[in-house]
Amino acid sequence: MHLKIAILPGDYIGPEVMAVAVPVLEAVLKRSGHTVEHSTHPVGGAGIDLHGKALPDSTLEACRQADAILFGSVGGPKWEKLPPQEQPERASLLPLRKHFRLYANVRPGLLLKNLIDTSPIRPERIPQGVDMVCIRELTGGLYFGAKSTKPCENGDIEAIDTMVYRKSEIERITDVAIATARGRRKHITLVDKANVLETSVLWRKVVSERIKTTAPDITLATMYIDNAAMQLVLRPAQFDVVLTENMFGDILSDEMAVICGSLGMMASASLGMDINRHGKGYGLYEPSGGTAPDIAGQDKANPCAQVLSVALMLRHSFGLESEAKAIENAVEKTIADGVRTADIAGGGKAVGTQAMGQAILARL
Ligand code: IPM
Ligand code: MG
Repeated sequence: MHLKIAILPGDYIGPEVMAVAVPVLEAVLKRSGHTVEHSTHPVGGAGIDLHGKALPDSTLEACRQADAILFGSVGGPKWEKLPPQEQPERASLLPLRKHFRLYANVRPGLLLKNLIDTSPIRPERIPQGVDMVCIRELTGGLYFGAKSTKPCENGDIEAIDTMVYRKSEIERITDVAIATARGRRKHITLVDKANVLETSVLWRKVVSERIKTTAPDITLATMYIDNAAMQLVLRPAQFDVVLTENMFGDILSDEMAVICGSLGMMASASLGMDINRHGKGYGLYEPSGGTAPDIAGQDKANPCAQVLSVALMLRHSFGLESEAKAIENAVEKTIADGVRTADIAGGGKAVGTQAMGQAILARL
């Protein structure tokens, strides 16, 4: 198979962790006889600096030509003074998600039994580790509803974000959650705020009907977002598939990541309905965390989330399951062997980004 990847490293630690992930991609494919062709394009702050906009036309075109996008992370203090709609996050990542209709964001939160010490949760609360996955709706809700800021007659100022969801949007993401749950423990927790929000009332109705009619083998629990945030800390192991709307998923997935050791460990796949040249889903793969400007350029960032994003890409956009597993096993083994970046070293001896990458490659 010949894979064509658009690589968008982005800003701050983005290029540093990408420099670790690309050799891992090349190594695993070489071993199994596949070929890969990748090209690197500026996005986010880098796009602004080089081409005057966060998503340069040439970058978007390269993404169109590719089978999948491997994304780093964007944004940071350097561009914070720009008008909000020109800022790296809003002007690159969100349009990319919208353009390629990447409505399903899959974020695995896996804490293996022999890595429990990397979690901030007391070990006795998670004797078996944690294995959950967040299915976050990614192209609707507050992120994409109508927005405005305007002065009021009395001199006050009013800002509006709108949360909009349609039945069809909820159904298609529910189908992703069902498919995910079928490959796991067959349990979905829908997180919403149905005691307050109209959109949540619709979510509950649509999700429960969808499961009742198309997936009676799946059990459904519902939980308010405030309770879910608490339950995640109290008893994270109760969760299998967490299904939720865009904003709640943004917040909960960070919480899930840190429960599983560190934000530097959580990869994510953003999938849509487009099919690539290989007949598989077109997707964008990125770490769930941000650009970490405070540690950028110091060889301190944890590259695991970026490396694990490569595994998700091979699995979802190319169907290369054993290659994906090989990468996941190499990361797991590296950490189990005690090779860790500072964020997961628990105050113990830590290695840098590049050394972590070498250690993963060595175990691949
Ligand atoms: C994420 C990020 C993005 C989001 C930002 C960078 C716009 O936090 O992927 O979770 O809010 O979706
Ligand atoms: Mg986020």
